[in-house]
Amino acid sequence: MSTGWTSRYALRTKGIKSSAIRELLKITQRPEVISFAGGLPAPEVFPVERFQEACQKVLSTKGACSLQYGASEGYEPLREMIARNMARYGIRANIDNVLITSGSQQALDLIGKLLINSGDRVLVEAPTYLGALPAFNVYGAGYVSVPIDEDGLRNESLEAALRSEPKFMYVLPNFQNPGGTTLSEGRRHELVVQADKYGIPIVEDDPYGQLRYEGEHLPPLIVIDRENLRRDKEYLIGNVIYLSTFSKTLAPGIRLGWMVAPPDVISKFVQLKQGADLHTSTFTQYVAYEVARDGFLDEHVRHIRSVYRERRDVMLQALSEFFPPEATWTHPRGGLFLWVTLPEGIDCQRLFRAALRENVAFVPGDSFYPRNGHPPTAHMRLNFSNAQPEQIREGIRRLSIAVKAQLDSLHPVRV
Ligand SMILES: Cc1ncc(COP(=O)(O)O)c(C=O)c1O
Repeated sequence: MSTGWTSRYALRTKGIKSSAIRELLKITQRPEVISFAGGLPAPEVFPVERFQEACQKVLSTKGACSLQYGASEGYEPLREMIARNMARYGIRANIDNVLITSGSQQALDLIGKLLINSGDRVLVEAPTYLGALPAFNVYGAGYVSVPIDEDGLRNESLEAALRSEPKFMYVLPNFQNPGGTTLSEGRRHELVVQADKYGIPIVEDDPYGQLRYEGEHLPPLIVIDRENLRRDKEYLIGNVIYLSTFSKTLAPGIRLGWMVAPPDVISKFVQLKQGADLHTSTFTQYVAYEVARDGFLDEHVRHIRSVYRERRDVMLQALSEFFPPEATWTHPRGGLFLWVTLPEGIDCQRLFRAALRENVAFVPGDSFYPRNGHPPTAHMRLNFSNAQPEQIREGIRRLSIAVKAQLDSLHPVRV
């Protein structure tokens, strides 16, 4: 007899599909494919030896504690270290403002769990991080989206979106995934003021902030909010929940991220985290602390920046050499991605299949919009951190063949 699992799935799981990117990654793992699809860091930069030493040290000096259950909030020395590091960026957090999560992805799930009732709308950038959408969808989220340009979320559409009373807004101010864009300082101030005016809390997702390759660091929304709006109150943290992660600076496989929020909100997240996984792996937290300490993380981030800056430059150069003039792309000042815009009429799913025939992959732009929110133009997200410089050049050359063929099929007499 059939077990009939399907008929027993909860209603909230209806319409949830496996993430487009996960399915794509399977195809793009073929060795002959140059993949710009995943958001993968360069494997060559993983500090494998430092991890090896750290594991040995943790096991020999704190073996039993590191293998024991731990506090749901996370390992205290690691939370202290995170609070100290964030202070350099102006984020004044105490240890009770910091919750360790199993990657930022878990933070997004916990946010959905805590804040979203079925039918609530979340204000998102269009396009937005494609992993946030399934995390929020399962709680029945709807969306109101605000388009972005090179300077991030466009403020002229913001006020109308805020007036429609979203439950919260989800913003990626630094080197946005997928746009590669950065919210300008002026827009940051205006966004924080507008959000406060309409009483809409902000979730600031910042996995890439440390990976800046040019220009000056800009103040995080969580800092602008506190310094400008909450000066006379005792709060360190106000209207903004801030997320970050070790995935891009140490290694994504350790699944370590954190969130910063007022202590009462952290307590609520702790209750939800207890239901999810009790706590993030104790052993991993001990090891990450040991790896990051004594200035290693800073030194390592400097190294990653120089590797990724070169790869970004190689990709930008190859795009201007090989791509047709109808295509435009963003110039990311940091992070892992850039965003290509192609003329109206190009079907990016068809282009994706054509690109795979040339043994090159990207993520089609329509994956980054909430349901029914696709723009009329076609987009591609290209990752520049994972492939080696010479592969990047070759991959862009191959991709340009697929793009030109699609353009020719649109305008057969194009010269
Ligand atoms: C914007 C954004 N948020 C969250 C995540 C998830 O990161 P983590 O590996 O910490 O779960 C990613 C991963 O690429 C991301 O780009």
